[in-house]
Amino acid sequence: MPRLTLKAISKRFDRFQALDAVSLAIPDGAFLALLGPSGCGKTTLLRLIAGLEVPDHGEIRFDEHVVAGSSAFVPPEQRRIGMVFQSYALWPTMSVRGNIEFGLKVARLTAQERAARIDEVLDVVGLRGLGDRRPHELSGGQRQRVALARSLATRPQLILLDEPLANLDAHLRETMLAEFRRIHSLTGATFVFVTHDQDEAMAVASHVAVMDRGRLEQVGTPEELYRRPASPMVARFIGRGRTLPVRVVRSEGGQTRVMLGQQFLDMPGDAPVGYGWLSFHASDLRRVAEGGHLKTELVGQVFQNGAFLSHCLPSEIDGDVVSVPLAERLAPGTPIDLAFTGGWVIGDGDTGHGAVDVTGRSSACRPAVISLR
Ligand SMILES: Nc1ncnc2c1ncn2[C@@H]1O[C@H](COP(=O)(O)OP(=O)(O)O)[C@@H](O)[C@H]1O
Ligand SMILES: [Mg+2]
Repeated sequence: MPRLTLKAISKRFDRFQALDAVSLAIPDGAFLALLGPSGCGKTTLLRLIAGLEVPDHGEIRFDEHVVAGSSAFVPPEQRRIGMVFQSYALWPTMSVRGNIEFGLKVARLTAQERAARIDEVLDVVGLRGLGDRRPHELSGGQRQRVALARSLATRPQLILLDEPLANLDAHLRETMLAEFRRIHSLTGATFVFVTHDQDEAMAVASHVAVMDRGRLEQVGTPEELYRRPASPMVARFIGRGRTLPVRVVRSEGGQTRVMLGQQFLDMPGDAPVGYGWLSFHASDLRRVAEGGHLKTELVGQVFQNGAFLSHCLPSEIDGDVVSVPLAERLAPGTPIDLAFTGGWVIGDGDTGHGAVDVTGRSSACRPAVISLR
């Protein structure tokens, strides 16, 4: 049974549609990343799940209980969830133990139970022995661990994290991502982790829900989003993907034949016949001496990961710059003939509205269902 179900959730601020019919089902124990560009509605969705906002339409359920909908609204303090924010939101004058204890007092645990619970969560987040420090005596990473410990102390089944690593430097972010994964499997709680950083989302989550302009574009595992994006937006957002316009001339059983400029290409994909997009990554391109699929001209190179990542502008079709790693430094203007070794063909239709299931097909009003393997 899904732990958390969102059914066609919409939210408007004045005349701005912040969320538009978002449907999603998150199973017990999942680690879901909500990923999308700044302003796409991630925080709004998290606040609705927490009960800090009320949806205009739709329904939110925890297990079988409706917590927000036309017939019911459960206030945040009764939803039994933990929240962790970018800003930590710790009380500066209270010790680490005091910060963690507050929620336990509200939950009416005895002093002895509270002390035991605080020791337990300090152990979980790796802060044993630092309980008497004040927040200003801790590093940023330690403060975020305190915030996490506080959210875990009441043993909620659902933890919501809103860009919890945004204030940390790159090295610490990586350490903390590993910590979040460890703590997630240790506690068995369902985690919903908001981020605008796709590397972060792909590194930490079992499933990623990509949002754009208030809509849910696609839900899937990191590999599915990378290899089989459901929309051009997802294709471009994940893994620095690129897209080129194509004409799909044949489509059958997950295989398509497309026209890229004057060239025919056979590619996996699920696009119907008509206009579409070929989506690919730098690793799907290879330079060939002749007979490639895409003629380009070098516009620039950057040395990256031991190769020259080369930006090439298509010369015979109207398309954006594509990037390919090359072994040598070349002069701008050099003609580069490229062949595709992989890619995925997406239809030009609007797949972004309402519910999307894990395979990326639109599914009118059925919530996107994630299955844990
Ligand atoms: N209380 C509010 N009043 C008016 N507009 C808001 C409010 N909260 C959010 N918005 C708008 O809704 C959109 C989505 O915001 P938000 O959910 O914070 O995005 P994200 O977290 O993805 O960056 C933004 O354009 C934001 O300006
Ligand atoms: Mg936000």
